Amino acid sequence: MSQSDTPTSAAWSGRFSEPVSERVKRYTASIPFDWRLAPFDIQGSLAHAAMLREVGVLTDQDLADIRRGLGEILADFEAGRFTWNLDDEDIHFNIERALTRKVGDAGKRLHTGRSRNDQVATDVRLWLRHAIDRLQELIRAARIALLNQAEAHADTVMPGFTHLQAAQPVTFGHHLMAWQEMLTRDAERLADCRKRVNRLPLGAAALAGTSYPIDREFVARELGFDGVCENSLDAVSDRDFAIEFLAAGALIMTHLSRMSEELVIWMTPRFGFIDLPDRFCTGSSIMPQKKNPDVPELMRGKTGRMNGHLIALLTLMKGQPLAYNKDNQEDKEPLFDAVDTLADSLAIFAEMVPGIVVRAERMRQAAVEGFATATDLADYLVKKGLPFREAHEAVARAVRAAEQQGCDLADLPLDALRAFSDLITEDVYAVLTLEGSIQARNHIGGTAPAQVRAAVARVRARLG
Ligand code: ARG
Repeated sequence: MSQSDTPTSAAWSGRFSEPVSERVKRYTASIPFDWRLAPFDIQGSLAHAAMLREVGVLTDQDLADIRRGLGEILADFEAGRFTWNLDDEDIHFNIERALTRKVGDAGKRLHTGRSRNDQVATDVRLWLRHAIDRLQELIRAARIALLNQAEAHADTVMPGFTHLQAAQPVTFGHHLMAWQEMLTRDAERLADCRKRVNRLPLGAAALAGTSYPIDREFVARELGFDGVCENSLDAVSDRDFAIEFLAAGALIMTHLSRMSEELVIWMTPRFGFIDLPDRFCTGSSIMPQKKNPDVPELMRGKTGRMNGHLIALLTLMKGQPLAYNKDNQEDKEPLFDAVDTLADSLAIFAEMVPGIVVRAERMRQAAVEGFATATDLADYLVKKGLPFREAHEAVARAVRAAEQQGCDLADLPLDALRAFSDLITEDVYAVLTLEGSIQARNHIGGTAPAQVRAAVARVRARLG
């Protein structure tokens, strides 16, 4: 892809008495970024041309010329040989000009019955549909990476947190399956958004439709759309589908950011729950001892630009009267950057998860130190007939005693425990262990290892 400086006059210059200034040309052109739409613009033009032939607007010869010319342009584009010209403003004019240079009059007939307004809306939808399908593959890979680690750590005990204070024991596998659930909903949201992306604007022309006998259903079928946009004014102006995508994308980044934050916390030597392989970290230029989790930090940081892109498009739309306005040209850079950011982040996350080195002993120790089985002791007393509030009170006093003696609840001798409630007997030690605690939460959605394994199996079955 390169820029040519051979001057051409604008396609609409017949109406004007002077050319636009260089500055205005640069300001209004979108070709420096919308060249990315090229393969989709060509795909849309091929379907449009085939339809024009069907309804008798183009001849067989025109169609053959257009197909040959667009085929060559696509090959040039794929080989990095396609050159664009700023004078030709955007990808649509650049391709049309290149086509006309190659095949003559047939190239000039291609734009019959359409406008750049419905053309660009179609191109962006085709591009986004393709991007969504690629992102779905990447989410799937990230989910599979999580399933594998969760299965390997279905029995690994760690403290679960509320308020970032040790709360109750959970398994590391259960924690990773929580992340997996977030990504499952992200995949569902993208699939839902895709339904509204997958409608054909072409045929709306500039805004009111066209007087040619077009067949929109034909074009929709050719391009794999589920149907046509029903109103021409809406078809050329709607960018909801892109906003919706960015909202789903912002949630994906929000999820990756939360997971990254946990990786960062777990990796500080204070926690020491995990380590990340060196290939995901960097050192410090001044402090020789440092190993910094740059990759998760950057992933957390990139969430900011995703949120920015969502707000950019919402703001872009809010004041626009029907139908097409040039404002809409500003939809592309946020969308392109959003897809790049999401694709890179998901791919690197899927690569990082299998590399997580789990320090099971540290996790276990943290759960012990955090009195993580206190709730289990309260539940034990309730099952023996004590009202929950009284049980809560008795256990709180026991925790205070253990804390004063610098030991875990399970280290208190039976006599000491009985001082808080005489309902306590020898069998209490079974519930005070970490294993006893996690095994007891044995229902769907609970942290018991058997439940974690069952959850992994269910998701695997759904992923096929
Ligand atoms: N480059 C323009 C865009 O991205 C294409 C449509 C321009 N249409 C127009 N009437 N100026 O939106």
